[in-house]
Amino acid sequence: MSRDILAIADLDAGALEAILDLSTRAELGRPLAGQGVALLFQKPSARTRNSMEMATVQLGGHPVTIHKDEIGLGTRETAEDVARTLACYHSVIAARVADHGLLERMAAAVATPVLNMLSDSDHPLQALADLLTIRQLLGSLAGARIAWVGDANNVCRSLAQGCAKLGAELRVASPEGYGFSTAEADGLGIRQTADPAEAVTGASIVYTDVWVSMGQDCEAEARRAALSAYRVDDALMARAGDAWFLHCLPARRGEEVTDAVMDGPRSAVWRQAENRMHTARGAMAWMMGGES
Ligand code: CP
Ligand code: NVA
Repeated sequence: MSRDILAIADLDAGALEAILDLSTRAELGRPLAGQGVALLFQKPSARTRNSMEMATVQLGGHPVTIHKDEIGLGTRETAEDVARTLACYHSVIAARVADHGLLERMAAAVATPVLNMLSDSDHPLQALADLLTIRQLLGSLAGARIAWVGDANNVCRSLAQGCAKLGAELRVASPEGYGFSTAEADGLGIRQTADPAEAVTGASIVYTDVWVSMGQDCEAEARRAALSAYRVDDALMARAGDAWFLHCLPARRGEEVTDAVMDGPRSAVWRQAENRMHTARGAMAWMMGGES
């Protein structure tokens, strides 16, 4: 069975721990020597593209970045035929897609491992960096108390799945209609509230993301109105005590987070961004059979 990573939920706790451990290894050898990694983007990216390209180089491989209009995933050619084509040349197929179903179809069509670089529902590569960052900041994930403030989106879902597997406690503060379904929250052991102050009280990590994700521009006005009370500012951080602030980035400064928090002494967003490269390296080393 190929080692796809479409969602954190697909990984068992052992695999998740193995990827985090591989991510911190100084020496991983060159498991991608002479091999290609396809990086297919249907949406823009700064961190994911750059971290994945550099992680590929560090593992001895060659990244080929493909933009939306070049390949026409699902329009010029079916998702299955795109995957079969890329599998002729590459040892890992990574894609950022508007519809998670495209990734599932690609993974089902080829034996080559497929990696989700963000979909409408999940962002597992981000969660790997988040989990590593939290482990570095707090010393351990088990028992860590993490507060998510705002839209319970793709980034939040992947983080929640990772927290559930590694024993961290996640509380989510969202307005009505922007949280997880009760069934999903119960399955992940998440406490949900509408009150940001309640969620952050006692937390060691406060995490937020944009109110309008890529592809949601037509809902922008309604989202900004619904989420306007969920900005992370100094007053909310003070409720948490000495918590660290995390954000997957890009941030809309002044919207979901203030400059003072983003640039403040408890912000770890740049360490988190750097960890995207280390965990991309760990994830691909695992996909190539590392720590098996
Ligand atoms: N956090 C993240 O995935 O950033 P990019 O959209 O810039 O890749
Ligand atoms: N939730 C955001 C994350 C960007 C990295 C989005 O999907 O646009």
